[in-house]
Amino acid sequence: MHHFLNISDCSPEQLLDLLDFAHQLKADLRQGKTEPLLAGKILGMIFQKPSNRTRISFEVGMAHLGGRAIYLRDEEVGMGTREPVWDVSRTLSRYVDAVMIRAKSHDDIDVFAQFSSVPIINGLSDLSHPCQALADMMTIREHKGRLKGVKLCYLGDVNNVCMSLMTAAAFLGVEMTVSCPKDYAPMAEAFPPINFVEDPRVAIQGADVVYTDTWVSMGQEEQAEDRIAAFKGYQVNADLMSLAAPDAIFMHCLPARREMEVTNEVMESLQSVVFDQAENRLHAQKAILVNLLK
Ligand code: CP
Ligand code: NVA
Repeated sequence: MHHFLNISDCSPEQLLDLLDFAHQLKADLRQGKTEPLLAGKILGMIFQKPSNRTRISFEVGMAHLGGRAIYLRDEEVGMGTREPVWDVSRTLSRYVDAVMIRAKSHDDIDVFAQFSSVPIINGLSDLSHPCQALADMMTIREHKGRLKGVKLCYLGDVNNVCMSLMTAAAFLGVEMTVSCPKDYAPMAEAFPPINFVEDPRVAIQGADVVYTDTWVSMGQEEQAEDRIAAFKGYQVNADLMSLAAPDAIFMHCLPARREMEVTNEVMESLQSVVFDQAENRLHAQKAILVNLLK
């Protein structure tokens, strides 16, 4: 693996290896063990959008591994405005050992990677959020003891998070069903291993895992009113959750808009594993960093 821009940059076998390694790193950390596998290595991080989990988990992860991370505000770097993406890429490649980018446009990440002489990690784009999907698969495996055959129902917007989940699910044998209004699902229908069911009450029947994300992703604020109206029937609430398997878990990548895509009641229920997901970002990304930099 040269870069980690999409889940499909790995083979299904490599994805499983990354997961195994992430579980190992988590178990080690629980016992107070952190090996300086990346001693002296520096990760540059460019953010064109805000972040809580991604920034902190990468920064802490590099510290655990004996390296360090440098946070670069795009207001200063001016990727594509102050300087072309390819010049930023070739400059940064001379200073740091890897770059994590959260970008408005996935195309910019692709161009950055094309010109970079160091590994690039996608920390979220308009198209995908592969680090999140890896942490999510890890969380499902922890709670369900397996991935193959687990029934995952994703309700709501077919966005970056959903797209990466679809690829990871297809690679790992997770049976994924996506449920959203037909007008918002062109990609879901074109993705053969994934079932598409428009009616959320049908889609969620017997699900082992129920997942949702915001209806208004970063950068879509101007469409907020239309989106909220379109997705209204897809809110994950106690009534909908009662149709899933009795031991179903609830997942959300966060940040969550409570009483919008999910109720406060479901977020705070015993079924909710959202903070396990947030924690697993740390372990999953450490596995990615070691894989790319060792
Ligand atoms: N889930 C996630 O990527 O969170 P942040 O936007 O806070 O980084
Ligand atoms: N789909 C959301 C994910 C945030 C982590 C967004 O892009 O804003």
